[in-house]
Amino acid sequence: MRATVRLPDAGAWVGRAPLTVSDARTLLRRYRLELLWAAFAVANYAAMLVWPDWGTVPFYLTWISLTLLYGFRVWPVGPTLVVLVATLALTGLPHIDQVLDGQQATEKLARVPLMALLFLTVVWHARRRVDALQIAEERSEQRRSLLERQERFIHDASHELRTPVTIARGHLELVSVRGGEAAELEVALDELRRIDAIIGRLLVLATADQANFLQVEEIDVEPFLEDVFMRWSEVAPRAWRLGTLNVGRLRVDPERLRTALDALLENAVKYTPEHAAIELRSRRDRTGQLSIEVEDEGFGVPAEALDRIFDRFARADAARTRSAGGVGLGLAIVDAIAKGHGGHCTVRSTPHGSTFALHLPHFAPAVVRLEEPPLFGYGPSCSSA
Ligand SMILES: Nc1ncnc2c1ncn2[C@@H]1O[C@H](COP(=O)(O)OP(=O)(O)OP(=O)(O)O)[C@@H](O)[C@H]1O
Ligand SMILES: [Mg+2]
Repeated sequence: MRATVRLPDAGAWVGRAPLTVSDARTLLRRYRLELLWAAFAVANYAAMLVWPDWGTVPFYLTWISLTLLYGFRVWPVGPTLVVLVATLALTGLPHIDQVLDGQQATEKLARVPLMALLFLTVVWHARRRVDALQIAEERSEQRRSLLERQERFIHDASHELRTPVTIARGHLELVSVRGGEAAELEVALDELRRIDAIIGRLLVLATADQANFLQVEEIDVEPFLEDVFMRWSEVAPRAWRLGTLNVGRLRVDPERLRTALDALLENAVKYTPEHAAIELRSRRDRTGQLSIEVEDEGFGVPAEALDRIFDRFARADAARTRSAGGVGLGLAIVDAIAKGHGGHCTVRSTPHGSTFALHLPHFAPAVVRLEEPPLFGYGPSCSSA
């Protein structure tokens, strides 16, 4: 589809009764460049008539200023042609007059259509550029709205799925409590729990671009991370280690941060053998952001999978992941939460373990108060000879 470039809409006033002072002011403001140029062109026309010997200077000034003006205002074809014809007349008539009076050679007339041709070339290039820009803008708008519809679809579909899954789960749990012991019952319940978890994660991802995704507040980093660590160290038999933690305040959504850390620690448990070491720690990275890290001594992520590990449904080792019950949404959520806070995620991995880090801005380290120096300080003592 060809894009058309619109001149500021003067037609809006046509057929509208009567032009008020503020309308006139708005029009003047909109067309101030055009009006300035028109005044300049008329002044040049007068100069051509008054000083015929210097006629070439105002002639070229008129065309150069028109080309400059067109760089700021790309008019539609109609007004462009009107301006072109008017400028041709304005700059051509004094030339014709001088040729007829014998003051100028006939060949000099050629410069008038040549300048018009030069201007048309500029017009053509400018319009091509504006058209391309408009097409690019339309495409990006289409893509944005497509993405928005997809997100809405995922959100609505997940929402609709959640109710029947919850009901089916409830009924099966009731059958199980009343003595139903068939292994198939447990399998069905497991699968429903899995579907429920997937729906929950899809819902988080579907809302990640919305304005109210985060409820930010200030938290104390150290006790927050200690609490997360305590809860996890009790659920899985691993060699849990709490590394160094930063002391200070972080502006963050605590619920979302907990979700992200849960996903990282869940992975650390899922992808490590029993009794392997898992460490939670924090430090300030090179850019001053707070980096919360989860290091494990697990199987590691294969190098070829590292690039897309934070994508949705990305699984590094499909067989192992399936047996661990993963679908590939945990790290996508971690990434969305980090980006929502203006941060990012990183991963380092070897076949002997991985370190996932959540880099978050808006961290204010606590001010460390130095102990008051003793009255008779620690410095070198003075001695008198
Ligand atoms: N600590 C880790 N060690 C080794 N591989 C990991 C680790 N964390 C993630 N992975 C790999 O990255 C993949 C993506 O992880 P992610 O958390 O996104 O999904 P998942 O664990 O498979 O499923 P989900 O978290 O949605 O239940 C995993 O399938 C796994 O292959
Ligand atoms: Mg996971």
